[in-house]
Amino acid sequence: MCGIVGYVGSEQAAPILLEGLSKLEYRGYDSAGVAVYDGETGRLTVRKSKGRLKVLSDMLDGGASVAGRIGVGHTRWATHGAPSDVNSHPQLSRSGRIAVVHNGIIENYAELKAYLQEQGIPFTSETDTEVVAQLIEHFYEGDLLQAVGRCLRRIEGAYALGIVCADAPDEIVAVRKDSPLILGYGEGCSFLASDVTAILRHTRRVSYLDDGEAAVLTRDGIQCYNHLMQPIEKEICHVDWEVDAAEKGGYEHFMFKEIMEQPEALRRCVLPRIRNGEVVLEDFRLDGEYLRSVRKLYIIACGSSYHVGMLGKYSLERILRLPVEVSLASEFRYMDPIVDEGTLAIVISQSGETLDTLAAMREAKRLGAKTLSIVNVVGSSIARESDQVIYTWAGPEIAVATTKAFTTQLAVVTLLGLYLARRLGTMEETEYKSVLEELLALPEKMEAVLANRDGLQYYASQYFNHDSVFFIGRNIDYAMGMEGSLKLKEISYIHSEAYASGELKHGTISLIEDGTLVVALCTYHKLFDKAMSNIVEVKARGGDVLALTTEGKREELGKTANGVFAIPEAHPLLLPCLGTVPLQLFAYYVALMRGCDIDKPRNLAKSVTVE
Ligand code: G6P
Repeated sequence: MCGIVGYVGSEQAAPILLEGLSKLEYRGYDSAGVAVYDGETGRLTVRKSKGRLKVLSDMLDGGASVAGRIGVGHTRWATHGAPSDVNSHPQLSRSGRIAVVHNGIIENYAELKAYLQEQGIPFTSETDTEVVAQLIEHFYEGDLLQAVGRCLRRIEGAYALGIVCADAPDEIVAVRKDSPLILGYGEGCSFLASDVTAILRHTRRVSYLDDGEAAVLTRDGIQCYNHLMQPIEKEICHVDWEVDAAEKGGYEHFMFKEIMEQPEALRRCVLPRIRNGEVVLEDFRLDGEYLRSVRKLYIIACGSSYHVGMLGKYSLERILRLPVEVSLASEFRYMDPIVDEGTLAIVISQSGETLDTLAAMREAKRLGAKTLSIVNVVGSSIARESDQVIYTWAGPEIAVATTKAFTTQLAVVTLLGLYLARRLGTMEETEYKSVLEELLALPEKMEAVLANRDGLQYYASQYFNHDSVFFIGRNIDYAMGMEGSLKLKEISYIHSEAYASGELKHGTISLIEDGTLVVALCTYHKLFDKAMSNIVEVKARGGDVLALTTEGKREELGKTANGVFAIPEAHPLLLPCLGTVPLQLFAYYVALMRGCDIDKPRNLAKSVTVE
């Protein structure tokens, strides 16, 4: 994970770097640092500190206390070496003349460190990154890019690197492999960053470095190089995300803002893709002949995106009558999966940079599958490497716990299902039309759910001090419960687990005692009676049941459950999109009442670019 940023231009660099880092803190936040070169004094100043960015920012007086117009910055999620001042980035070479910020992991760092130590080079940190700084200096003979090139030939692993050198005071060298890095083109200035939100205030003109490529940034422009260090031209893209979209805009937390933005995000995602009663996926390159040859869909993802995959299995199998397997990317990579030319791999990732997901996608490709990705971040690695990308268009999501990316991913899965069903002729016309109509009505229904949020705040106030919570449900309600449980545990630190209701009696029921909170999901009418039986079993053992259902079943459930929250009626394919919203709000309010750091939960990061 980790976030890196770089600036070269005519302004003071430190405030720009700190501001950029504030947008990247979601990537890691256990320490932060900057390295700035001052042309007046000829000095490279490195300031870094354990703790949140605010500690560094206060230390530097918002950047005012460090002079210089070129520099790099870093916000860290520790991998090698505990969070500490000395392990924070930038890491310096022995002479202190080369500073490096790094996102990723250098896998052969121990071997390289031993080699350098044998040459008499002392190390001060436990990080893998210090090896890079030392190695570049070891190879440096007056040409920074060349030294970096030699260093790259020795290091293995994943990296996005930003490098400044006191002997090459007008340039920043940037390189990447398997970790994201974008370049920003300003007027008389240039930027690098892990994510576009860090530089959006300054420029919307960006290009994306590909694996093995390098760039030299100066105030006059950016020159890119291929893996042989030959100059290349990169396409410059225009980013149309609003600057405000990455700001809190008056909300106390990004998570709450992003929950509330969901109806709008859905409109952005869905409306342009429904025209004249048909789903239109522009630039869809997988042709009819290929689609008819597909024998199996394989959904690959991590975290919440994996839960979208689980929900997608129910909906896509129902619509397409094709077998759908769902796998965690970290498992898929090493399980010798049964994948061939007849498999379409659907890769789901908000960030488009999750390392396991990216690696799993490459593995699926290697085995002969075509790959279709569902991604939020435009130009991200997964988006670029997949055979087909469908963007969620949710806008930037900053809170670590995903909300609007999740619901738009679900909407895209439904759109995709409908689109494929039309091409494969697997869906009745009336069903197709009714799902389309419901999709169009979804944003409004979601607004109704959000408007009712007080009820959830009340339930949160009743249960926020519980130590353990269970989520139960069947079919889509089970998969939704997994997401509800993850949301709760990741931001409130309450132990929680999701179970398929039918599994209760195979173990979990032994944990139910007086006052145990069970969130019972029963939105899926087809299995409502079964869900009721499980609720009664829980009640009989003293458990408290908070039930989530649809309006039509509110009264009936109210007779048994301790509390009921109802969402509007909807087609089963769309229920998860609506039903997840109350679970997000419940988790949010519980975490709020427990005083948790909602947007930056401990030990987590939004973009997981390490294995
Ligand atoms: C992290 C985030 C989750 C996210 C998961 C997968 O764990 O905190 O919210 O679901 O990564 O991320 P992706 O970007 O691939 O969807």
